[in-house]
Amino acid sequence: MSLVDIAPEREPEFLALSTHFEALLIRKDYGRMEIVPDEATPSRYYAVRYWNDAGAAERCHADPETQALTAKLYQIARVSHIVNGVRRREVARGLLDDRRAAVVTDRRSGFDRRIKNVGRADGDRRVADRRIGPRRVREHAGEIDLVAAARRARENADAAFSHFKVGAALETGDGSIVTGCNIENATYGLTICAERVAMFKALSEGHRVFTRIAIVADTEAPTPPCGACRQILWEFGGNLEIELANLKESKGKHRLKHLLPLPFDARLL
Ligand code: THU
Repeated sequence: MSLVDIAPEREPEFLALSTHFEALLIRKDYGRMEIVPDEATPSRYYAVRYWNDAGAAERCHADPETQALTAKLYQIARVSHIVNGVRRREVARGLLDDRRAAVVTDRRSGFDRRIKNVGRADGDRRVADRRIGPRRVREHAGEIDLVAAARRARENADAAFSHFKVGAALETGDGSIVTGCNIENATYGLTICAERVAMFKALSEGHRVFTRIAIVADTEAPTPPCGACRQILWEFGGNLEIELANLKESKGKHRLKHLLPLPFDARLL
């Protein structure tokens, strides 16, 4: 953990750098990071990095991309390392899963009740509103069923012109789910795909770290993200795990770097 005191008026730059660094940690599988503002001292933050293992910490420190970001950081902030240590990935992962599992267990009866829509004065609308979002579904204990969330999001698709409905569910670094569906309109060209709706919703809600996305269409062949979505997912989500599925079954998992080889992104600007 580091204590970061930012020079006057450089906070936006610091936050932008942190976002880049966070994305780098996830993309290269080094670990993850949290930035916590100090409530009592203006322009002071605590940066907490969770390394996947000791090797990941070393590789990250040696990475020229890290060094370039750190050099920029040192120009705008004073950084004091206050705690050093490596917590094994299983432990960090376990904590995350525990948190999810706990909430899932708590909500099970509520979820079942909502699915059957028993005793709800406001009927189906409320069912739809309530069930989209984090922690509503699960496949195995501790694992969120992202595909199920994407299937439900697909029901909201507005595909009046193509009749091709798509749903997407994006998992964020803190384990919540943000969903999206495709929205078409009379100009055709302003159509926005499910994946970008999910990503832009998530960004607008302040999420900056992403782990997985599920994409669902009602077709036998899998529906992979279009080129525009691959670019947006890459720039904001890094090397995401992408699960493609239809209404019945999963149609496979991919890594975004394999769907978008030789990507153009901010590193090349
Ligand atoms: N579409 C998506 O939402 N995601 C994809 O991955 C592929 C295509 C949408 C866009 C359009 O509304 C419809 O599917 C047909 O292309």
